[in-house]
Amino acid sequence: MIDIHNHIIPAIDDGPATMAQALDLLKMAEQDGIQRLVCTPHMHPGRYDNDVRTISPAFNALIEKAMDSGINIQLAMAAEVRFSDEMMIQLNSNRIPMLGQWQGQSCILLEMPHQRIPIGIDSMLGWLARRDVRVIIAHPERNKEVMIHPERIFPLVERGALLQLTAGSVTGAFGEHAQSAARWFLDKEIVQFVASDAHNSKRRPPSMKAASLVLKDWYGQEMQHQLTWVNPNHLTESLFLQSGS
Ligand SMILES: [Fe+2]
Repeated sequence: MIDIHNHIIPAIDDGPATMAQALDLLKMAEQDGIQRLVCTPHMHPGRYDNDVRTISPAFNALIEKAMDSGINIQLAMAAEVRFSDEMMIQLNSNRIPMLGQWQGQSCILLEMPHQRIPIGIDSMLGWLARRDVRVIIAHPERNKEVMIHPERIFPLVERGALLQLTAGSVTGAFGEHAQSAARWFLDKEIVQFVASDAHNSKRRPPSMKAASLVLKDWYGQEMQHQLTWVNPNHLTESLFLQSGS
């Protein structure tokens, strides 16, 4: 499996506080069957003021320690970018580490506010599309407005947005509303990726296997493979070629 969304780099957002905790999470990921993992720390202006200048050195430190610890998992880096006006500035100054490529376009992993679909997101998608940038919406099934009105994601999908579900939503760990929204999107065949969004070992662990088994049960092995390997591999191949880790 390939995990395209998690918070495993230490002391940079609300993921692990220490390198030792981060290495424990990587070991858990490896045991769970995750072979490649793209670290995606929050870029959230005013809260987690990250960009490529903070993420890159912290990522390099993690890679070095992971190699020293004999962890057998390939690592790459990107970011989870909070929807904001600052995105435009960040993008124009090349400060957003992109989450690979989809059909020849660079991709941003985009986080919406948790309560609602933000006003202006469709014009933002248009602005990004004119710059040849594609959006992957992180865990739409956990957004409160989307849980009640999942059909409101369609205008974004029609503008080219790709969807990433969180593994814990698929298994029911985030409650029945998130799970039923996740299944609604899967039934409509508008989901490309399932990822861990791991933050810590207890409440939000780096696990995808349980979700992968649920996907297999609901839709069969081919769909399971598509969402946990084929599509993530297509997206991130260029990142892993670059990192060579
Ligand atoms: Fe996240």
